[in-house]
Amino acid sequence: MTGPGDITLAAYQEAAGEYLRNSARPAPEQIAYLDRFAGLVGSGLVLEIGSGPGWDADHLESCGLRVVRTDAVPAFVERLRAAGHDARLLDVRTGELGGPYQAVLANAVLPHLDRDQFKDALQRARCAVVAGGALGFTVKEGDGAGWSDHKLGLPRHFTYWREPALRAVLHRTGWRVDYLDHVAVRDNCWLRVLARRDGDAGGEPDLRVLAGQPLGAPYPRSMPRAQDHATCARQAERR
Ligand SMILES: C[S@@+](CC[C@H](N)C(=O)[O-])C[C@H]1O[C@@H](n2cnc3c(N)ncnc32)[C@H](O)[C@@H]1O
Repeated sequence: MTGPGDITLAAYQEAAGEYLRNSARPAPEQIAYLDRFAGLVGSGLVLEIGSGPGWDADHLESCGLRVVRTDAVPAFVERLRAAGHDARLLDVRTGELGGPYQAVLANAVLPHLDRDQFKDALQRARCAVVAGGALGFTVKEGDGAGWSDHKLGLPRHFTYWREPALRAVLHRTGWRVDYLDHVAVRDNCWLRVLARRDGDAGGEPDLRVLAGQPLGAPYPRSMPRAQDHATCARQAERR
């Protein structure tokens, strides 16, 4: 255990049951946000980072999307598997995101990353989606960073964001904001974002189209990968 992110993950691992007891399935305004995300994505495969209980994934699948559930905490991954899902262990700070996906969703996960890790995660998410692919995520609104033991009775670390700084990092990492709102959930304000991978106009075609397949069809294993992270990250840095 070293940094704040590791301490936060240890808290989730130890108190996953407590987290589930103190959390609720998505409220109507969250369902509306997920519906908007599903509308933006259309069809295909979504990578969910930090699935936790997996309730958002359940809703997206009821909208016709396919979701790869992942989490950095084994306790959540084991619960998801026990419920019959093909969940994977993935730490967004260090893990391979894979892809290409039609979209990436990270609801209430990225506040646990510091600002450099957050920027890096956005760059890698961009590399993991198809041209024009989508990103949905939420962060807590505010200044600075700090600890809270609310919900778990154990410390979790949060980095807070303001809209101008958030828009700036999205732009720098190659995302065009499609929708951004501010929503109050209990005593917290959240920023909810939907974005599209930017900079693809006239650029990379969707690999499935090249292969004569309909959009939304799965990517056969034999297909070439989307551009690698290093190339993609360099592009995003130049922006
Ligand atoms: C507040 S919960 C949200 C869970 C779920 N997305 C939801 O909205 O119901 C935060 C989730 O992020 C996960 N998480 C925290 N840090 C992570 C990291 N570095 N990589 C992947 N998942 C992480 C936690 O294990 C936890 O499941």
